Amino acid sequence: MLMSVVEQEKTSFEKLRPNDSQRLISNSAEETENIGEVFAESLKSGDVVALFGELGSGKTTFIKGVCRGLEVSDDVTSPTFTLIHEYSGRLPVYHLDFYRLEDPREIWELGCEEYFYGEGVSLVEWANRIIVNLPKDRIEVHFRSRFQTGAKNTREILIKQR
Ligand SMILES: Nc1ncnc2c1ncn2[C@@H]1O[C@H](COP(=O)(O)OP(=O)(O)O)[C@@H](O)[C@H]1O
Ligand SMILES: [Mg+2]
Repeated sequence: MLMSVVEQEKTSFEKLRPNDSQRLISNSAEETENIGEVFAESLKSGDVVALFGELGSGKTTFIKGVCRGLEVSDDVTSPTFTLIHEYSGRLPVYHLDFYRLEDPREIWELGCEEYFYGEGVSLVEWANRIIVNLPKDRIEVHFRSRFQTGAKNTREILIKQR
């Protein structure tokens, strides 16, 4: 049942064009992972996915699903202190997390440009913290919790192609 809902969305992810967006509602962490997994099928070399949303809104959970979809077999955890984790799947995957970014100069030290304009797929948590350094050509995924009903496990996921 869960997968069939996600399967229905698949066609529309593939059809997303610049400025299109798609709004999904997830009612569990598992569902968010499944959405990420299906979304991953639309990703290609060089794509940058910018994730926005408060702590606990589901960004890392979604990325776990994306990595599963990209056939990553490594453990996927937030690179909170190291700022970046690299995985290999059907494409190289760069998982960046700017939650603990203290000094914007770290962005240059990390060499973000090489990731953003490289061969792999970049998945960027706390993208708002490095927004000026992000490529204009990117996919944005916005997460919101308790937006409507106050339900603890409900998340709104808005995917925008720019
Ligand atoms: N629908 C949902 N989608 C994603 N996570 C959910 C959902 N419902 C509950 N959760 C829980 O919320 C937390 C999300 O954590 P995480 O993905 O690490 O968030 P972030 O990376 O945005 O800080 C997890 O503990 C997860 O189990
Ligand atoms: Mg996270």
